[in-house]
Amino acid sequence: MAQNRNPINVAVLGATGAVGQRFVQLLQGHPWFRIAELVASDRSAGQRYGEAVRWVLPGNPPADLAERVVLPLDADVQSPLVFSALPADIAQTIEWRLAETGHVVCSNASAYRMHEHVPILLPEINAPHAALVRVQRQKYGWGTGGLVTNSNCTSAPVAMAFAPLRQFGIAAAQLTSLQAVSGGGYPGVPSLDILDNVIPFINGEEPKLEAEPRKMLGALAGERIAFLDYAASATCTRVPVLDGHLVSVAVRFYEAVSEEQIVAVWRDFRGPEPVPSLPSAPPQPVIYHSAPDRPQPRRDRDAGSGMATVVGRLRPCPVIGGWKFLALAHNTVRGAAGCSILNAELLVAEGLAG
Ligand SMILES: NC(=O)c1ccc[n+]([C@@H]2O[C@H](COP(=O)([O-])OP(=O)(O)OC[C@H]3O[C@@H](n4cnc5c(N)ncnc54)[C@H](OP(=O)(O)O)[C@@H]3O)[C@@H](O)[C@H]2O)c1
Repeated sequence: MAQNRNPINVAVLGATGAVGQRFVQLLQGHPWFRIAELVASDRSAGQRYGEAVRWVLPGNPPADLAERVVLPLDADVQSPLVFSALPADIAQTIEWRLAETGHVVCSNASAYRMHEHVPILLPEINAPHAALVRVQRQKYGWGTGGLVTNSNCTSAPVAMAFAPLRQFGIAAAQLTSLQAVSGGGYPGVPSLDILDNVIPFINGEEPKLEAEPRKMLGALAGERIAFLDYAASATCTRVPVLDGHLVSVAVRFYEAVSEEQIVAVWRDFRGPEPVPSLPSAPPQPVIYHSAPDRPQPRRDRDAGSGMATVVGRLRPCPVIGGWKFLALAHNTVRGAAGCSILNAELLVAEGLAG
């Protein structure tokens, strides 16, 4: 059993960034994984991690890792498992190369999310998509290598809230996001732009929110994923919140569905085995909050240790002809590092990594 084995060495690429720091925090004391290598840009390489990082999370960087020397991107990474929190353009070259050389890469970057042989994993909703790692090995001769991604941070709560609703036949969705500043990385949006303000544009975000959940909610069909077919229209905004992306959703179904049915399928939703027993899986992936003013980022982003999606304000939508609700997830935990770690746990449990 993976639980009884020696810890698997992991590397964190982009370890000094907003998501990289979250990896460092969440991997402290992880039962299966041990950080062996920290990698960042030439700006940071050669310095102690504690010097190179501008720590934006509570407290300080873990003392042992603070002394670790940051490696450059061209270092000969030894760890079999690699967590990537690199900008997409940098990830484009390095992630494929690492997979080719036998590493299993769990990426947060968008570079390969839409590649036909790369899954966007959210284990509770699409664990079978992990089988694409076998397709990669066979097609590209990667040996022990592989490449999986997690979604854009805003796609995560939408895909999670939709997964239990798939059975009613999703026909159309209107999505408006209110995204936290940490979603833009560090230093992110200048304070003089975001304080006392809402920015009604995030470069490149709306096409991701329209397409990624459709891939995530799709079915594995041979060597690729058949996307779930529904019409989607997204508007993405940046709001002066530190962490936690809130999405206002209106959805129309092919079937007539009651409020009680929707609440029941959200409440009862669980991932398939072995997902609920993985170390980072929350006990309840979707939490329905019945209070009229929830979910709220500050109050609800840490539900399920930041791994749950909190939904609420469910009510009929006369315009779309269906239902509308709010969905919230912690963008650097479930929307990034936490999901990536859960993805890696799934791969280990399925014998695809480690
Ligand atoms: N923030 C979120 O909520 C979120 C959610 C989901 C996905 N993502 C994705 O995750 C990735 C990281 O996002 P982030 O928010 O953590 O960004 P960030 O705060 O800007 O951090 C970027 C990291 O990449 C490193 N880096 C930059 N250029 C590099 C280069 N040429 N070579 C090697 N390392 C380089 C930086 O190192 P230095 O410090 O040394 O410059 C830093 O460690 C992005 O692809 C982003 O789209 C982010």
